[in-house]
Amino acid sequence: MHNDIEKILISKEDIEAKCKEIGAALTKDYDGKFPLAVGVLKGALPFMADVLRYTDTHLEMDFMDVSSYGGGVRSSGEVKIEKDLDTKVEGRELLIIEDIIDSGLTLRYLVDLFKYRKANSIKIVTLLDKPEGRTVDIKADLVGFEVPNEFVVGYGLDYQEKYRNLPYVGVLKPEIYGGEA
Ligand code: XMP
Ligand code: MG
Repeated sequence: MHNDIEKILISKEDIEAKCKEIGAALTKDYDGKFPLAVGVLKGALPFMADVLRYTDTHLEMDFMDVSSYGGGVRSSGEVKIEKDLDTKVEGRELLIIEDIIDSGLTLRYLVDLFKYRKANSIKIVTLLDKPEGRTVDIKADLVGFEVPNEFVVGYGLDYQEKYRNLPYVGVLKPEIYGGEA
């Protein structure tokens, strides 16, 4: 275990098993279709790679990078597009892939944007869900794991851009982030 991690919440093995399970569900959902998988950078990267490895259907991948104004560890609600999709959304089956849903503001924004761009269908898959953080009504179609209202890192999730490469999801030692979450 990394020295800065207090405890592991979700092990590498549990993540892998869940990716297989979600991949199998997506294989069924998109049978005969050609979905556009949209990864939300940067946090969704490891999860997207692993879950789509087990999704046995033709699909396309693209990426969005969004940030919320205001900084800090909480979303402010105003979302800014840092990198937009290269792919046209109109008429497509969209599969949004996220690392975590907390307030729900990021996904609310993305879903509204893709509706406006006339997606044919929109599904959300997230590795983690923090239901206690929710301020807007949004639900993922597929959730890997529910997590408590604690700041988590690893497997895509960062603190100050670190820890994304950890193969598990864990909680930082309080002295690392000074308890600002
Ligand atoms: P909202 O509040 O818009 O947040 O649903 C989604 C984004 O907030 C970040 N986030 C976290 N990042 N550990 C992280 O590393 C966390 O515990 C955490 N909670 C929220 C994340 O960027 C996510 O995409
Ligand atoms: Mg994010």
